[in-house]
Amino acid sequence: MSTKSKVLEILENNRGIAVSGGKLAMQLQLSRNAIWKVVKELQREGYDIEAIPNRGYRFGNGNDILSTAGIKPYLEKESMAENILVYSTLLSTSHTAKQLALEGAKHGTIIIANEQTGGRGRMGRSFFSPKDGGLYMSLILRPEISLDSSTLITSAAAVAVCRTLEKTTGVKAGIKWVNDIYCNGKKICGILTEAIMDFESNSISAIVIGIGINVSTARGEFPKELEKKAESLIHVTERPLSRNRIAGVLINEVLWILKELGSEELIQEYKSRSIVLGKEIEVLYNQQSRKAMVLDIDERGGLLVEYENQEKQVLTSGEISIRGEF
Ligand code: BTN
Repeated sequence: MSTKSKVLEILENNRGIAVSGGKLAMQLQLSRNAIWKVVKELQREGYDIEAIPNRGYRFGNGNDILSTAGIKPYLEKESMAENILVYSTLLSTSHTAKQLALEGAKHGTIIIANEQTGGRGRMGRSFFSPKDGGLYMSLILRPEISLDSSTLITSAAAVAVCRTLEKTTGVKAGIKWVNDIYCNGKKICGILTEAIMDFESNSISAIVIGIGINVSTARGEFPKELEKKAESLIHVTERPLSRNRIAGVLINEVLWILKELGSEELIQEYKSRSIVLGKEIEVLYNQQSRKAMVLDIDERGGLLVEYENQEKQVLTSGEISIRGEF
């Protein structure tokens, strides 16, 4: 690890607290002058590092630069995170993750970008991914699961995002089936789960979970069609956020939740976080929509709905909208 990364890691570990030049120098076995030079260089690169006379260095509130060194302090010791690759711009983290998975990248390889020029959403839509405003992450997973259980991964990822948002910001997050994350009635996060199949053995060789969180995108920056339904986390918390911290906790939560896959507790948590249970919805299918009532969510994450003609159906994929909402 470079000296710059080590300094970043120490400052990230001590957010809110000033770390003296002497302490940094001792920990990194360098002179105080060498530490000062590294800090100056980091400041030139855009890091908001405050130098407080007689106390030391600390991150200012404006510091929100994504980096592997900045994420590492938040990873649990037993984390299965294999390799965390942070890019400034990518077409799509999921696109890169799928390429790497095909080339043999290991379980726990994480791709993060500060901007996506071709962010992808579900149902062939795009995902608005402006520079500096969000956390765009794709995780390569190689869980030993059957095709059957793979649908549960999507529900598990949604629960993992809710847990992360609550741990890092204290905000209450809900799930709009199948896996959109809402806070205060607006979409904060979207999840795209994709599988790479091994047709020889008819099994899944890798799963790529793509998670996009609107962290600090300004309200006026969202495209017109999203203005009413999308929101950034910062407007819910109304205080500065660290994308490195959110990323680290999210990696822990997603990798951890795989152990809970298929458990009764997990589906109960998914249900308790659902914002559609008992609601009147529109089921969107083939450019058409049908009114229905949500009765339940089954043990596989399927949505049990009842249409106006009393016909019931379990939806395993697709798109719904809550009636009366955008
Ligand atoms: C949706 O809301 O329809 C799902 C959006 C998923 C967006 C994330 S951002 C990281 C990853 N890379 C992509 O291109 N898409 C996913």
